[in-house]
Amino acid sequence: MAGPLALSAPQLIDLHPPAADMRRLVVAGMERQPRQLPAWLLYDDEGSRLFDAICQQPEYGLTRIETALLQERAAELAEALGPGALVEFGAGSARKVSPLLQALHPSAYVALDISAGHLHQACQALQQRHPTTPVLGICCDYSQLEQLPAHPWLERRRLGFYPGSSIGNFSPDEAVTLLRQFRKLLGPGSRLLIGIDQPKAIERLEAAYNDRAGWSEAFALNLLNRLNRDLDGDFRPETFRYRAWWEPEASRIAMALVSREAQTVTLAGRPWTFAAGEPLISEYSVKYTPGAFAQLAQRAGWRSLQRWSDASDDLSLHLLEPVDRGSAATLEPDSEQQHSDR
Ligand code: AVJ
Repeated sequence: MAGPLALSAPQLIDLHPPAADMRRLVVAGMERQPRQLPAWLLYDDEGSRLFDAICQQPEYGLTRIETALLQERAAELAEALGPGALVEFGAGSARKVSPLLQALHPSAYVALDISAGHLHQACQALQQRHPTTPVLGICCDYSQLEQLPAHPWLERRRLGFYPGSSIGNFSPDEAVTLLRQFRKLLGPGSRLLIGIDQPKAIERLEAAYNDRAGWSEAFALNLLNRLNRDLDGDFRPETFRYRAWWEPEASRIAMALVSREAQTVTLAGRPWTFAAGEPLISEYSVKYTPGAFAQLAQRAGWRSLQRWSDASDDLSLHLLEPVDRGSAATLEPDSEQQHSDR
């Protein structure tokens, strides 16, 4: 009997992504008005642990609902995606992809992540759970790549996967840039399956980012510990309080650490003055209606093919296909610098 070959170990490629210039990015963010730091700074080891706890809070439905949707609709999603290699952007611990792998049987599963340690672990676990699917981990900063590395498993139609509504952490202009980058890396004939959190009742939105157990607060405050440790800061976390609120004009939740008093802190070798009540934005979480997201995707050269949502229409999975180059449907060509929304 010639059964499918069982694979025991994933393949790994390390492109050695250069470390982000944290000092420069933090100084630039501290000079903004209001002050705003890059959201990825939240995810040091402790921050990643705190985020996992947020995902289990009753007020925070995003992870639970999306995971259930992926499980319940796996067969339909697989049918709509069609054949190819499944490429997950920012796979992290790759905890959402299993039902899709089972239903889709892709020619390969390719996980991209900037953290070599997480990637290694995740790929090993997935290869054991899915022994007939070739698993490839590529340690890289996918936002900076010109193309995916040459590899036989990538010489197929590519199916992108970007769950978690992580795109909400970017401004709409940055999100367009990211979606264009996905299109470049995935190439012609590809598909992109992306999870998008939607606007909903303000009380529910604000509760999701202000859970009663205090994990959201701890997650944001941990940023100050990281700054103290990595950039020689002297923030006193007890002099900041956490706040999260809905900004309807921008369709986003703003999360901030608000100084309880007038004070001067030292960070990256420089003094920084805070007025009493002055916010330091730790992240934004933009929510898109299905129509608003389809428009955003169109600016990046993607057309919306299909959408799946949960029973309460809290969030959606959008399936996108690239618009042909030269087609009239591409409103803004790649080469053109993006107009600002502001
Ligand atoms: C990972 C960006 C999707 O915006 O809901 C959750 C991050 N921060 N609670 C979100 C987050 C605080 C999360 N995303």
